[in-house]
Amino acid sequence: MLANVISIDDLSDDDIQRIFALADGFLNEMASAEEPNWIRGQCNLGQKYILSTLFFEPSTRTRMSFETAMLRLGGGVVSMQDSKASSMAKGETIADTIRVVESYADIIVIRHPWEGAARVAADYARVPIINAGDGSHEHPTQTLVDLYTLHRAYKEQLSKEGENGRDKGGGRFLNGLNVLLYGDLRHGRTVHSLVYALARFGARIIPRAAPGCELPEHVEHRLAMDYKCLPIQREDLRENSLPDNVDVIYVTRERQNQLPFKGPDVYVKLSHDERESLSHIKVDVFYATRLQTERKSTDEEAEPYPAISASQLKGPRYKHSKVMHPLPRVDELSFDLDQDVRGVYFQQAAYGVPIRMALITHLLGLKQEAQERKPVGARYPEYTNAVGIRCDNPKCVSEQESEKRYLIPRFYIIDAKRLLLRCAYCDYEQMPKVVGKSVSKKYSTDLGTFSEGKQGGAVLFKSKSDAEAAGYEERLTARKMSDEHVEI
Ligand code: NCD
Repeated sequence: MLANVISIDDLSDDDIQRIFALADGFLNEMASAEEPNWIRGQCNLGQKYILSTLFFEPSTRTRMSFETAMLRLGGGVVSMQDSKASSMAKGETIADTIRVVESYADIIVIRHPWEGAARVAADYARVPIINAGDGSHEHPTQTLVDLYTLHRAYKEQLSKEGENGRDKGGGRFLNGLNVLLYGDLRHGRTVHSLVYALARFGARIIPRAAPGCELPEHVEHRLAMDYKCLPIQREDLRENSLPDNVDVIYVTRERQNQLPFKGPDVYVKLSHDERESLSHIKVDVFYATRLQTERKSTDEEAEPYPAISASQLKGPRYKHSKVMHPLPRVDELSFDLDQDVRGVYFQQAAYGVPIRMALITHLLGLKQEAQERKPVGARYPEYTNAVGIRCDNPKCVSEQESEKRYLIPRFYIIDAKRLLLRCAYCDYEQMPKVVGKSVSKKYSTDLGTFSEGKQGGAVLFKSKSDAEAAGYEERLTARKMSDEHVEI
């Protein structure tokens, strides 16, 4: 299996620990004399290798830190400077572009506006592919940077306090950390990869979305289905406290294990009084994000939201908060936080270099120990068919004219009973209403005929009319046949 990083879930807990250890090593050996978080100089680990950066969207930090990382490793970089000057602007597919670039470079970093584009690249490449952001979907390497910032921050704090602390091994090094997410949680891909990692490593997620910018339903659903990370329950209110204006707090698997799994429909909206009674929780991390104006569709409501300033974070619950931001900031983070010790966002950005050096080292096996990489197992069975149901998300790569010509819709069956599908490219969910049989060309609305392991020849459709448009006829059940008989 190739070492691709398309989702943060492509990296196992061991991979992440290994990447942190490598990044620590690079900082120990190559940090600038003046600034311990900056890498200076060059080593020769990557000297036989070339990294290619294919960026079809603007970037400062991600592209430059990847390129810097490769150069500091002693490797070379080939970069597509202007995507409008590439053949993709002439209508070349992602698959073809990748099949060409892989013959030039040993590892490819891709950023693209279509959700799932990096997955397509990985499906066609024979060199490792790293997702540097695919539309609003995911941005796993920013999450690595974010996690590493927390790892360093708490490591330092804990060694100062001389405590055993949070890092209890087994990867749950964020156990009990309260992370407040502020801003555009709907369109921001950094937030999506981040919440999956926070849930996995034991942090509590406190979403404080700007109006109209709440976490998308499929992200909440994935938190619930994959991590058993559910909204707080009313019965938990006595034990917890929440900051003002926060409607939902997600708690992690450990606490929720005792509760029956209710699914994501149980979205607890707290009343004003309930919120008031819970306004003392301490916020360990205040993670701000900008409004993603370029991703908002015209009919979506998303108003600019207030900037967070040092004076707003005056209360005791923010006293020891780390203020983070993936950057670029626009209006959501006031400049007065730059002088505040709580603001760690430039340090966070600086960690982009050691962490990406570590990731490249890990994926290319540049250090002997890095070569063993256990693939992360598939979580769900897959359904794929050129006929029938397609992804509903207009921004999904599988729905783009150029890519539709060769991409076959692919879904994970995340709930075989309810027949809930998740697009393998962009994570959007679908619930087909009709099952057809390709041999008989008959369809039925009895979804029980489609169950895990018995899908041979089954074709899923969104609706009866879609099935009929594809030339399928309704299979009449005994009851329907007798109804027809009476009518005749
Ligand atoms: C982010 C991105 O491109 O998604 N920036 C980054 O990579 N550091 C965040 C953003 O654009 O708001």
